[in-house]
Amino acid sequence: MNIKGCIFDLDGVVVDTAKYHFLAWKKLGQELGFDFTEQDNERLKGVSRMRSLDILLEIGGLSLTEEEKVAAATKKNEWYLEYIKQMKPEEILPGVLDFFKSLKEAGIKIALGSASKNAVLILNILDIKGYFDVIVDGNSVSKAKPDPEVFLQGAEKLGLTAEECVVFEDAEAGVEAAKNGGMRCVGIGEPAVLSKADVVVDGFNAFTIENLKQL
Ligand code: BG6
Ligand code: MG
Repeated sequence: MNIKGCIFDLDGVVVDTAKYHFLAWKKLGQELGFDFTEQDNERLKGVSRMRSLDILLEIGGLSLTEEEKVAAATKKNEWYLEYIKQMKPEEILPGVLDFFKSLKEAGIKIALGSASKNAVLILNILDIKGYFDVIVDGNSVSKAKPDPEVFLQGAEKLGLTAEECVVFEDAEAGVEAAKNGGMRCVGIGEPAVLSKADVVVDGFNAFTIENLKQL
């Protein structure tokens, strides 16, 4: 089937915000009295803010009331925003902008499919919102990845079927979401982690529009 649309995850695919999420969660862990490692942070990739907090608390062996959880997630997000407000367009991952440009030239539509509620803010900070025909983010979905809702909404808003779209993802839950939605998926990262993807590459310098057409 001809590819008419590409749907991109944001964190870890377009920009490396995972390091900022990590720093903010680590700070929250410290405040709550336990250490949170980079390895632990892998479990939070692609996962919603509140679910991430639950995982963090599980790692720390703590339980909080709903009210305390909302306060903790708000605090983490405020720290995270301090980091991302200082991001520069140079932090866009290598090859991403050239890939976007070649999609535009080929008439292939571009959508964002992100779990983040900060997605539009990040696109504006990086000055790349204009590349996206459609944006679906953590504010518009009710079911988190691996549920395919975010990508199915993206395809629908592009006016395309799932079969006409390809998803780009760096998280295991995100690859599963794409496959659950009946879409082809390019994994960005480690083949061992993203084994359910149709192909796995380590970044857009290793993936061109010619590779896309061969999927
Ligand atoms: C995903 C990230 O894109 O967004 C997760 O991979 C993050 O790590 C999630 O928790 C929610 O992000 P935000 O910006 O709404 O807290
Ligand atoms: Mg991601």
